[in-house]
Parts: sequence; C-alpha cells; structure tokens
Amino acid sequence: MKLNQTIYYPTVFYSVVASGKNNVLIIGSGGREHALGWKISQSIHVDKIYFAPGNGGTAENVDIKQNDIEKLASFAKRQSNLLTIVGPEEPLSMGIVDVFAKEGLRIFGPAKKAAMLEASKAFAKEFMREAGIPTAEFATFSDAEKAKDYVVRQNKPLVVKADGLAAGKGVVVCDNAEQAIAAIDTIMTKKEFGLAGSKVVIEERLAGEEASFIALCDGKSIMPLASSQDHKRIFDGDKGPNTGGMGAYSPAPVVDKELHEKIVKQVMEPVVSTMKKRGTPFTGFLYAGIMVDENTHNPRVLEFNARMGDPECQPIVMRMKSDLYQYIDAAIGGRLGSMPPIEWKDQTAVCVIMAARGYPGSYQKGKVIEGLDSGFGNDTMVFHAGTTRDSQNKVVTNGGRVLGVTALGKDARRAIDNAYSAVRKIHWGENDHYYRTDIARRAIMR
Ligand code: AMP
Ligand code: GLY
Repeated sequence: MKLNQTIYYPTVFYSVVASGKNNVLIIGSGGREHALGWKISQSIHVDKIYFAPGNGGTAENVDIKQNDIEKLASFAKRQSNLLTIVGPEEPLSMGIVDVFAKEGLRIFGPAKKAAMLEASKAFAKEFMREAGIPTAEFATFSDAEKAKDYVVRQNKPLVVKADGLAAGKGVVVCDNAEQAIAAIDTIMTKKEFGLAGSKVVIEERLAGEEASFIALCDGKSIMPLASSQDHKRIFDGDKGPNTGGMGAYSPAPVVDKELHEKIVKQVMEPVVSTMKKRGTPFTGFLYAGIMVDENTHNPRVLEFNARMGDPECQPIVMRMKSDLYQYIDAAIGGRLGSMPPIEWKDQTAVCVIMAARGYPGSYQKGKVIEGLDSGFGNDTMVFHAGTTRDSQNKVVTNGGRVLGVTALGKDARRAIDNAYSAVRKIHWGENDHYYRTDIARRAIMR
C-alpha cells in the first residue's frame, strides 16, 4: 500500500525493511481508527491493514468486537509480522496490552496500570499530585452526602466528575452549588454511569482556552505530535450537551512555542518519568486535555487520555509528513529518543463531524449516505465513524458521529472553506444529518 509520501529512512529501520513487510491490526471502529489506518497505509514498511471491527469506510474488516480481547489475541497470533494499535480506551482499560505482551505479540498502547490515567479520574488526580503536574484543586468522595457537604462549603464554581469511564459524558461543569449537588445525585445516587460513578472527583472550575496535546511515549521518552483543539458541545458557540467531539483542528494557535515547551516539561515528561519510577512505564499515545490560563498562559491539566484523541486524530494525521508507522515501531522498541522530530505540513487541517440528527440523544440508523463519491480533491478526506455497509454494499449510517470530513488549507480560513464545501456535498435521509457550522472559527479569531 503505497500512496504519495515523503520517504525517509533512518538507519535503524534498515533491519525492518530487510526482514520484509509488516501487517497492522487497528482495534476500534471510529474516525480515529479510519484516519490511523489511512495514514499508516502510506508507510513503505506496511503491507496489510486489518480493522477490528472497523466501519463502512475501512477495509479489511475483521468481525471481532473491540473488547473481545481473547478473540483479538487469537487472531493476532495467526498473523505474521503483525503490529497491533489500540484506538479506544475500553480495551486498554481492560488490559489488552498486558494480554498481548504475555503472548509475545507486538502492540502499541499502555498496559492496564498505566491506562488508569484515563480509566480513573481519582487515580489521575492523585498521580498528578505525586508528579507535581499542574491541575485544578480537587477532592475525591465515595459517599454522596460527604460530597454534598464539601460542595456547600466551597464558595466557588465546581466541576463534578464520575471517576470511571463514561464515554466523555461523566463530567458536569457547574455554575453553582445546586447544580453540583444535582450532578452528585445523577452520578452517585441514580448511578447514571453505573460503576463509573461509585466515586466522584470534585474540582475547582478553571477558566481559559482548551487545547489537546498528544505525544507518542515509549516508557522513557516522548515524541510530541502537533497541537489541536476539539469542539465538545453539540451546538454552535459551544452550547448544549457534551458529545464525543463535533470537530477539531490542528494546529491550535493558542499553543505557541513557549506553551508547547511548558506542556512538555511540566506535563508530558513528568507523566513518563513518574510512571517509570512506579514500575508501570507508559507506552502509547498520551493525551493531555489542557486549560490555558488567559493571564499567565500557564497550562493546567483537565484530563488525561491513554489513547489518541477522536476527532483530533483526523486533522493531526492529515498534517503529518513523517511515517507514523516508523514512530510507533520505534515507540514499541523503546527507541523514540533516537528519532528525529516528526515533520508537519505547514498547513491547517480542519475536521467537521457530520452526525445523525438527534445525537448525542437518540437518533436513527440505516440511512443511505449520498454524495460520498462527489470527488473532493487531494486535500480532503472523508473519514468514516458510525457507518456500515448494507446488503447491497451501500454505505449507511450506523452511529451518532457518522463522518469526519477533514481538509487541509494554507491557513485556517481556507481549511474551513475546504472542509465545509465537502460537507455540503454529503447528506442522508430527509435532512437527517447535522453538523456544527463554526468549527475552527476560533483559530481565525486569534
Ligand atoms: P474531561 O473529560 O475531564 O476532560 O472533561 C470534559 C470537559 O469538561 C473538558 O474538556 C472541559 O471542557 C470541561 N472541564 C473538565 N474539568 C474542568 C475544570 N476543572 N474546569 C473547567 N472545565 C472543565
Ligand atoms: N476529543 C476528545 C477525546 O478524544 O477524548
């Protein structure tokens, strides 16, 4: 699988080239996984790419669920020269990397104990305290009444978070004590997020601009990726409920050179060194959700994810000039420290999510998507997320976030124009699609 790419051969890879091509298994079914596969397919070191379970835009799909670790491992064992990349948090938090490693299978992602950084917000906050990583003040509770007493005693805006994984929905940003108490009831008493809500983290509400900072880690060192920003709320102007992400762009202008350095030194490197010291080295994509203070321009961590961001992945890989496969291979081998910095296109990439109308609430599935063959130009990619193929092999909707229409442009304005002109060619059902119209507008305002 060779597409146009800049070919770059550091000496360390001659061995890989000499020993033949590699195959890759990507676990997951979202836009992130489609984008990772698209990028990795351009590597001269890669032959076949499998997706488990993949979506309507990916091939070759293997019909195994992302959390069926046993079946995934047994599939991996039957392949030769296979490297597995884990997209979503669920299998990571279940320990897929530990299982694969025990079987001698090559896999990229953190082991279960390191993935706790995302799987438990209480763990992440304690970890940040230990590592001296800047973050909001917090307290953790496993008793709802004590949590409410604490809220009443705080005289400031708070954020209430379910401790465990809740698909990005377990965080309530509150304006006052009543809202915080209601959030505690939703999470702990009504158990809306199940066991994820048996503990809550309550933290001070920070103000500023958010950015996503993602790096590859090999247990000892990091390799930063380009900065990005996502749009979590469903409606324009950052209104309405949180979603998995309605769009993203890269780079994030707020992350200038100075802030980039601060994030590397104050956040990313301390994670890796503290994890190593604890005997649970972090290998994989490390994602820090950062709040940038307007006055001091200092970073504080809102959350960690133990994986690539979605949709941030889509604009990031569109801008990457280097061979991502080589870097992942180096990370698994503990060789990131000897790799040159990743090279980026000096362009902006914008990803607009096309969702099913109704998302993040209830929505319909099975609508035939029209316009996918419109011809979009080289600088535009339509990454699939909630799609599948029907009996006639037509692409139909199969989830809330359906497509990630991603385009490059000389600057933010042009990338936005390119992305939206592609979006306007695609539709399904009778006005059954929805997208935000203000993705990346902030990048222009800066
Ligand atoms: P999290 O999953 O922890 O990143 O939270 C989801 C979203 O909630 C973040 O992207 C922020 O927009 C918001 N958020 C989380 N923690 C805070 C905080 N301490 N202050 C203000 N907003 C927050
Ligand atoms: N876009 C936010 C996330 O991947 O969690």
